[in-house]
Amino acid sequence: MSFSDYTRLTKKSLGFLLPYLGTLLRQRATTILHRWTWRNTPNSKNIVVLGGSFAGIELVNQLSHTLPRGYRVILIEKNSHLNYVFNFPRFSVMSGLERTAFIPYDGLAKGAPSGIFERIQDTAVDLTSKKIRLASGKEIDYSYLAIATGSSQPLPVNLMSIDRNGACGELQQVQETIKESQKIAIVGGGAVGVELASDIKDFYPSKDVTLVHSRGQLLNKFGERLQRYAKVVLRNELKVRVLLNERPKKPSGGSMARGAILTFSDTRSEQFDLVISCTGQQPNSAILSTLYPEAVSESNSRVIVRPTLQILTTKDPNRAIPIFAFGDVADHGGPQMARAGWLQAGVVANNILALIHGRTPSRTYKPNVFIEGAIKLTLGTTHTVMYGMDEDGSDVMFPSRNGPLDLEIGRAWKTFGADYEKEFGA
Ligand SMILES: Cc1cc2nc3c(=O)[nH]c(=O)nc-3n(C[C@H](O)[C@H](O)[C@H](O)COP(=O)(O)OP(=O)(O)OC[C@H]3O[C@@H](n4cnc5c(N)ncnc54)[C@H](O)[C@@H]3O)c2cc1C
Ligand SMILES: NC(=O)c1ccc[n+]([C@@H]2O[C@H](COP(=O)([O-])OP(=O)(O)OC[C@H]3O[C@@H](n4cnc5c(N)ncnc54)[C@H](OP(=O)(O)O)[C@@H]3O)[C@@H](O)[C@H]2O)c1
Repeated sequence: MSFSDYTRLTKKSLGFLLPYLGTLLRQRATTILHRWTWRNTPNSKNIVVLGGSFAGIELVNQLSHTLPRGYRVILIEKNSHLNYVFNFPRFSVMSGLERTAFIPYDGLAKGAPSGIFERIQDTAVDLTSKKIRLASGKEIDYSYLAIATGSSQPLPVNLMSIDRNGACGELQQVQETIKESQKIAIVGGGAVGVELASDIKDFYPSKDVTLVHSRGQLLNKFGERLQRYAKVVLRNELKVRVLLNERPKKPSGGSMARGAILTFSDTRSEQFDLVISCTGQQPNSAILSTLYPEAVSESNSRVIVRPTLQILTTKDPNRAIPIFAFGDVADHGGPQMARAGWLQAGVVANNILALIHGRTPSRTYKPNVFIEGAIKLTLGTTHTVMYGMDEDGSDVMFPSRNGPLDLEIGRAWKTFGADYEKEFGA
């Protein structure tokens, strides 16, 4: 960290924050007016948001404060609680706090007029041009649909359970499996693999932890300064064995494979008590597979979108379809980060409102790589690094020490309008 880091951060943040503050003030004023003027009418048309995580929640909140009379917003989400995945690597190792990583949806659409918002806990299984079909057999009509189904990742990021007790049980099972294993390999040196490997070694210094990554540098989506910093802490301080330029075949036995063997590029095989795969994301784009299969990219399985975030079908590129996709499921050209989905929600809300009012959607998404791609990375319990890099390669890095063990989960609850103190005490 240097003086120039501070100067660069101040300049880049002000360029983002000042216009954003203006937007927030305008939104506040609109919200107050909206609460007094919106009336629930029979046969309101549905704007359906599919997926209630970082991207979908922000869209629900914006629409529930801006939709005109005659429209309402329905959220379809399979989980009973928001899975706050930011904390999953830590809570896969440390026990006792896992319940806090599942945030109730009570705070959604807070302050919005009654009747404008409904949440349905169900899984969407198919789509027609007018309806969404749910696993329960129910069908929901939509006038506009926003797909924010994100991506799936191996355990410990994605859990099978859709309710909080089951999901906590899964994280506890991961904690137990890690506790019982002495020699552990983490495959994949993206942010998840790096955070998990460093937490395991920090909480259990006597374990033998190996981090295996396909590229010449860990964290290859980020800049050199962060890569170097992470490697030094992992290797020299935490004593994690880091193997680079290795892409071993995933062992059978799932993403947490016990008693598994990895084979390396020099044909050497090594047995581990536990191999955890942190090998990245699989976009949840299957919902389009019947209606618009051509809107799913063959190269990365993400949903192909226009700059307005409306889906783009290559078969019919001039037809505007009333379906949007954003967040991690979409091929939007920005980073796969919650901050990107959150900013894209504003674009989608604006364009849906334009369509409702008979205008052509004109708001486009241009990634602010510095803001949206910035990372707050933990390297065990001692080190946290904030890092941001712009398109021109200029970057800032702020290492700090001894952050809170719970990674400030209480603040996350507040962000999503949930009452942490009521549930867990101060
Ligand atoms: C460990 C970790 C830490 C991270 N830390 C940060 C960070 O500090 N800052 C940051 O900006 N980003 C961070 N990220 C990235 C961030 O979590 C993702 O970019 C973000 O979750 C994407 O949000 P999303 O809403 O697009 O999709 P997702 O979070 O993937 O959510 C998709 C939602 O859709 C639901 N869903 C999917 N399919 C269906 C269906 N058919 N029917 C009903 N519901 C469905 C899912 O249940 C889920 O709730 C982190 C990621 C990980 C793994
Ligand atoms: N604190 C934070 O803000 C935070 C924390 C965690 C995650 N995130 C974000 O969440 C997203 C997902 O993160 P992630 O770490 O799950 O995914 P990721 O960034 O895609 O990293 C996974 C890595 O695993 C590598 N890999 C795949 N198969 C492999 C194999 N067989 N052997 C060795 N390496 C292999 C991939 O390399 P190849 O590309 O070569 O296949 C990839 O670099 C990212 O955008 C990330 O930045 C943010």
